[in-house]
Amino acid sequence: MDMLQISGATKIYNGQAIFSNFDLSVAPGQFKVLVGPSGCGKSTLFDGLTGVMGLDGGKISWNHEPLAHLGRHAAYMQQKDLLLPWFSLLDNSLLPAKTGKQDMIRMTAVARKLFVRLGLTGYESHYPHEVSGGMRQRCALVRTLMFNRDLILLDEPLSALDAITRRRLQSLLLLLQTEFKKTILMITHDIEEALLLADEVCLLSPQPMVIKERFSLKQPKPRYFNNPDLLKIKEYMLAQLEGDVTCEAG
Ligand SMILES: Nc1ncnc2c1ncn2[C@@H]1O[C@H](COP(=O)(O)OP(=O)(O)O)[C@@H](O)[C@H]1O
Ligand SMILES: [Mg+2]
Repeated sequence: MDMLQISGATKIYNGQAIFSNFDLSVAPGQFKVLVGPSGCGKSTLFDGLTGVMGLDGGKISWNHEPLAHLGRHAAYMQQKDLLLPWFSLLDNSLLPAKTGKQDMIRMTAVARKLFVRLGLTGYESHYPHEVSGGMRQRCALVRTLMFNRDLILLDEPLSALDAITRRRLQSLLLLLQTEFKKTILMITHDIEEALLLADEVCLLSPQPMVIKERFSLKQPKPRYFNNPDLLKIKEYMLAQLEGDVTCEAG
C-alpha cells in the first residue's frame, strides 16, 4: 500500500542521464532516507518530483493516481534554507499561508504554536541574519509544516549545521513523523543520521543513479549508536560509499 510510487524516472543533462530508470516507493507514515555520493542526482530527483524542474521521463503516482508532479501533495524543504532576509522568522514561516490566501489570524496562531514546539519561542520577530543556523533550519521546518501536506521532502536539512546542533535537530525531525504524522522522504549524506531516523534507508549509486541496496530498520526510535546492529550496518554502508568514490576517482 504505497502512497507514492515513482517508476522509470529519467533526467538528462547535456545528453547524459543523471538517472534513467529510477524506481522508488514510499508508504504512508514511512520515514524513508536516501543516502548517496555527492553529485549522484538526489536533489535533481526531488526537483523533478516536485515540479521545480521537470523530469524527462517516468511515472509518478499518488495513491495509484498518475500525476505530472507532486504539487500540492508534498512540502519540499530544499537544500538551502531559502528564508527571505527582509522578513522576520514568523513572517517567513507564514509565507505558505500568504500565498494560499488563508485566514491569517488562524494561521498566525498555528505558526506561533509551531514556534513553541520547535524551540523558537521569543525569536518570532528576529530576522534570519540575527539567529543561528540551527534556528534558521527550525524556522524552515516550521514553514515546511505550514504547507500542511501529507508528504515532506527534506533535502539535506541539517547538513550546514555543526554536530551538536545537528543532533538536537535530528530529534525534531523525528517529531515530524511521530507527532505531526507526516510521511517523510529525506536526503542526507550522513549515514548515522539516516540510521537514527529512517524506517528504510536506500543506498544510491553514482550516476546514473539507482538504488543499490535497501535497509529496513525496525529498531524503535529514538535510537542510539550503542546498538551493535546499527554499527554493523553503518560500517557496511561506509564501505559501499567509499567503494563508489574510489570507482569514480579511478
Ligand atoms: N541545471 C543543471 N544543468 C546541468 N547539470 C546539472 C544541473 N543541476 C544539476 N546538474 C548536474 O546533475 C548532477 C546531479 O546533481 P545533484 O542532483 O545536485 O546531486 P546531489 O544532490 O546528489 O549531490 C550533477 O552532476 C550536477 O552537475
Ligand atoms: Mg543535493
